[in-house]
Amino acid sequence: MRLLFIGDVVGSPGRDMVKEFLPKLKEKYGPQITLINGENAAGGKGITERIYRDFLELGAQAITLGNHTWDNREIFEFIDEAKYLVRPANFPKNNPGKGIIFLKFNQLEVAVINLQGRTFMNPIDCPFTKADELIAIAKERTPFIFVDFHAEVTSEKQALGWYLDGRVSAVIGTHTHVQTADHRILPAGTAYLSDVGMTGPYDGILGMEKDVVLKRFLTSLPVRFEVPKNGRTQLSAVVIDLDQKTGLAKQIQPILINDDHPFYS
Ligand SMILES: [Fe+2]
Ligand SMILES: [Fe+2]
Repeated sequence: MRLLFIGDVVGSPGRDMVKEFLPKLKEKYGPQITLINGENAAGGKGITERIYRDFLELGAQAITLGNHTWDNREIFEFIDEAKYLVRPANFPKNNPGKGIIFLKFNQLEVAVINLQGRTFMNPIDCPFTKADELIAIAKERTPFIFVDFHAEVTSEKQALGWYLDGRVSAVIGTHTHVQTADHRILPAGTAYLSDVGMTGPYDGILGMEKDVVLKRFLTSLPVRFEVPKNGRTQLSAVVIDLDQKTGLAKQIQPILINDDHPFYS
């Protein structure tokens, strides 16, 4: 079983990259399941129903989110009906939406879980105990369990990777927008990558207009971050192969497409 996961799509430059390259990636890698992190898809903050539906139409089966889940208020109007939208499971109990979903493929199912870290991020429930809870539920249905861990620091990401090693198919980090070079299969069989990276502007700072971010660093004055409308773009993703019986990982391969890492079909 092969799974493709595209990292944080930022604004229209990111959505354009998905539109252009998702068909090519599907042709090249032939994944059974495609997932997209869409927490920055609407102008860099949050997601709209239109974008969510476009991603599904382009061939994604589920969209994961993160700390920007609620930034576009439109989400409150469609999250209850959005069957394939997954927000961090360890948000407070009364929040709308869900943190785990099950996708069908052939006669099987894959569980998609979204969790958020707590270090240098908003205080929320413990991602480790929430993971225990959700894995117990998922295991009753399937050995294929994918975890998008949306977190700031590599230590917390590595910790969750080790904590879940052998219990889930993959722990893949999102949120930092920079792809890390530490992809591996942990000893008990879980595919791990600290961060898959982002999909959107290539010459910005984490996908935002660089001059504005620079001004913030140089002056400490409040600024409004914007997604650059023009310029070069990139796509970050990862492909993971899972054992058909155990659900554990056999191979993990990061993908980076930009002017310095061209795509070869
Ligand atoms: Fe992000
Ligand atoms: Fe984030």
